[in-house]
Amino acid sequence: MNNRIISKERLSENVWKMTVEAPHIAEERRAGQFVILQVDNNFGERIPLTIADADTAAGTITLVFQTVGATTRKLALKDVGDSIPDLLGPLGRPTHIEKVGRVVCVGGGIGAAPLYPIVQALKAAGNKVTVVLGARTAELLVFEKEMRASADSVIICTDDGSYGRKDVVTAPLKELCSAVPPPDQVIAIGPPVMMKFCCETTRPFGVPTVVSLNTIMIDGTGMCGGCRVTVGGETKFVCVDGPEFDGHKVDFDNMMKRMKAYRKYETQAAEKEAAHECNLLKMAKESERERNEKQK
Ligand code: FAD
Ligand code: FES
Ligand code: MG
Repeated sequence: MNNRIISKERLSENVWKMTVEAPHIAEERRAGQFVILQVDNNFGERIPLTIADADTAAGTITLVFQTVGATTRKLALKDVGDSIPDLLGPLGRPTHIEKVGRVVCVGGGIGAAPLYPIVQALKAAGNKVTVVLGARTAELLVFEKEMRASADSVIICTDDGSYGRKDVVTAPLKELCSAVPPPDQVIAIGPPVMMKFCCETTRPFGVPTVVSLNTIMIDGTGMCGGCRVTVGGETKFVCVDGPEFDGHKVDFDNMMKRMKAYRKYETQAAEKEAAHECNLLKMAKESERERNEKQK
């Protein structure tokens, strides 16, 4: 069977980590690249997920995803031994990695997962890397252990102060940019609004800032136009021209408006999937009850 799920781990209430058999992708992938997958082969939706890690010896890639809607919920229902019917990749341009000096990497929520291979590659290239991780609450923090093992220093922020600093990520980012000399580069990955404000924070300091855009994608080949964004006044396709861009040139407001376009349908699909999960749970409970009664 292709694309078999080798392991599955719950990192927090809504975040899952899966290793999937995909030897060719594992061999070829580089930091910053992603896959597009289909969870069911009956014309199911295609969703992009970053390759968070890979093991070339085992022939596996690691995906870390948050269940936000119908397709990610369906993926979370898959078990070890199940297969992902369609897995296309590696896609997108790899992160441009070079020795620039001091780099600050900012990860918001699930953004920590795509940031991790970039942090590893920046370190391997000889940079001094500070990681800033932000989450709403301690329970939602992911990849802290991995980042601590890879980066030179890690700053944690939570909105509710349940762990680390009670701050948004732009607060330590501003402090780091105010240092003399400021960092040579910033990389920010997370919700669009977080990336937008990271760019507004670094702009007055003139610190080059790279963002990884998470627009809606369909084909992943530059044909459908679903992922188009405006960067420096030009139309770009995130799937083939990105996903990384100069954050100071991205029109985030337009991107966020476009990402809301399908909200009504996404909500309907998520509700349908939640009802399906509820039925599965009821059926499991019912058969457990029948089994117990037979054993009596
Ligand atoms: P829906 O309810 O359908 O959508 C929820 C929200 O997800 C939407 O409002 C929209 O903002 C976004 N979304 C919906 N459909 C798509 C789509 N086809 N393509 C892109 N975004 C969509 N998420 C992770 O959890 N981990 C990752 O490593 C990760 N990497 C990504 C890498 C790239 C290059 C991109 C573009 C996105 C990445 N995402 C990642 C986001 C992930 O693709 C969406 O969360 C997922 O598609 C949601 O699908 P859904 O059906 O579960 O939710
Ligand atoms: Fe279709 Fe990028 S996903 S053009
Ligand atoms: Mg969806």
